[in-house]
Amino acid sequence: MTPPTVLVADDDRSIRTVLTQALGRSGYQVRSTGNAATLWRWVEDGEGDLVITDVVMPDENGLDLIPRIRKIRPDLRVVVMSAQSTLMTAVKATQRGAFEYLPKPFDLQELLSVVGRALAVPAQPSAGAPEPRDADERLPLIGRSPAMQEIYRTIARLTTADLTVMINGESGTGKELVARALHDYGKRRAGPFVAINMAAIPRELIESELFGHERGAFTGATTRSLGRFEQANGGTLFLDEIGDMPPEAQTRLLRVLQEGEFTSVGGRQPIKANVRIIAATHRDLRNAIRQGQFREDLYYRLNVVPIRLPPLRERVEDIPLLARHFLEGAHDDGLPAKTLDQGAVEQLKRYAWPGNVREVENLMRRLAALCPHETIGAEQIAAELVEAAPALSEAPAAAGPEPLVRAVERHIRDFLAAHHDGGVAPSDIYDRVIAEVERPLIRLTLAATRGNQIKAAAMLGLNRNTLRKKIRDLDIPVVRGLM
Ligand SMILES: Nc1ncnc2c1ncn2[C@@H]1O[C@H](COP(=O)(O)OP(=O)(O)OP(=O)(O)O)[C@@H](O)[C@H]1O
Ligand SMILES: [Mg+2]
Repeated sequence: MTPPTVLVADDDRSIRTVLTQALGRSGYQVRSTGNAATLWRWVEDGEGDLVITDVVMPDENGLDLIPRIRKIRPDLRVVVMSAQSTLMTAVKATQRGAFEYLPKPFDLQELLSVVGRALAVPAQPSAGAPEPRDADERLPLIGRSPAMQEIYRTIARLTTADLTVMINGESGTGKELVARALHDYGKRRAGPFVAINMAAIPRELIESELFGHERGAFTGATTRSLGRFEQANGGTLFLDEIGDMPPEAQTRLLRVLQEGEFTSVGGRQPIKANVRIIAATHRDLRNAIRQGQFREDLYYRLNVVPIRLPPLRERVEDIPLLARHFLEGAHDDGLPAKTLDQGAVEQLKRYAWPGNVREVENLMRRLAALCPHETIGAEQIAAELVEAAPALSEAPAAAGPEPLVRAVERHIRDFLAAHHDGGVAPSDIYDRVIAEVERPLIRLTLAATRGNQIKAAAMLGLNRNTLRKKIRDLDIPVVRGLM
């Protein structure tokens, strides 16, 4: 039997050499070229069993070649590699029928195993899914770190499968944005995307919110109301903060997922559920299961494809891209154009970003509005970040967020230990500890509302005057006029 032939197209000679040698050692025959025209001629001549192609080549874009290859040689498997690894490249490569997509620099071993797998399975018929309308090719997700590229690949693979996804990540890492991308590039993109936040709805209303209610089902139910499951019919239902779902609602949801139908509150007719579920949480659900707060069976129903969004401090290389992206966004919204100098970029990369991408966004908007200079320097960044959390080197080992109660316990224990044999007993532990909690609580809520005290008071559930007094007493700096 003749060994399979791999056709390699890449305008970078060193990559061609590396691939030719590695594939040759693994027993493949290799032909390589630096342009798309030669590759196309080979394909037309019926040569090769597998193609490895770069995206940007001098004469043609490798992605544009894929549909043509699939048309005349549906048996020929295509692997795409690209240094331009954005969400769009990953999605396009997959939707046009590439077998696999590898961001550069790739791992040679991984490439060889992809080639082996591709040749082992019979060629798939073209996915046939229409491409997403990407009129302006605006990228919904910014970042080129290896961690984000892994996310793009997962999103791309999921464009052709309607699987349930569980997104886990700290607050502000982009969970909702990823959920939207999954919908916007997925099979159900023509249907609705409906989001429901489990943490924001009073527990006694969750079931009626999800499944709707009949007229007269409970006091105050004066009309029949559609639940989110029905609103999302044919589309995607995003269950945000699923870790905060009360136990009764968990049981109900599990039953719906198992049976594929539900009844509204007070209703009898079962209604077929036709939604794709995407769930998200910042909580450690395994831990919640151990503590009896989350149903294990529901977890396994939802955790079909897990996506872990890494905190920003684990993808420092994305920070400058994100910062510039948000400055441009602020400019598009009518704020003055600003640029960051090198010192500012370094300063941003050193910071730990406990609020993740959302915190970058808020800071950039604040700077766009307030910084008097056109170029933002390290000093302006430093001034804005003084009040902020510990620097990267002092950040706790990134093993997921520490539960608040544990952090508080640790601090109080240290505090008591420090005073234990010091002679004078402290007299204000209560106020000190409360202030420690109150200060960041209020400061970060204000940051999240961009300084809007009315909104912050509403979110905190505090009276406006109480909030104002606390801001004064705790000496919290207020940045106004950003709404
Ligand atoms: N990779 C990214 N590229 C561009 N913008 C991003 C990215 N990640 C997050 N954002 C932006 O950051 C903000 C926070 O993102 P999002 O609301 O998706 O986070 P989240 O993980 O759902 O947070 P939370 O747990 O607080 O709900 C949004 O304005 C979002 O548009
Ligand atoms: Mg969210």
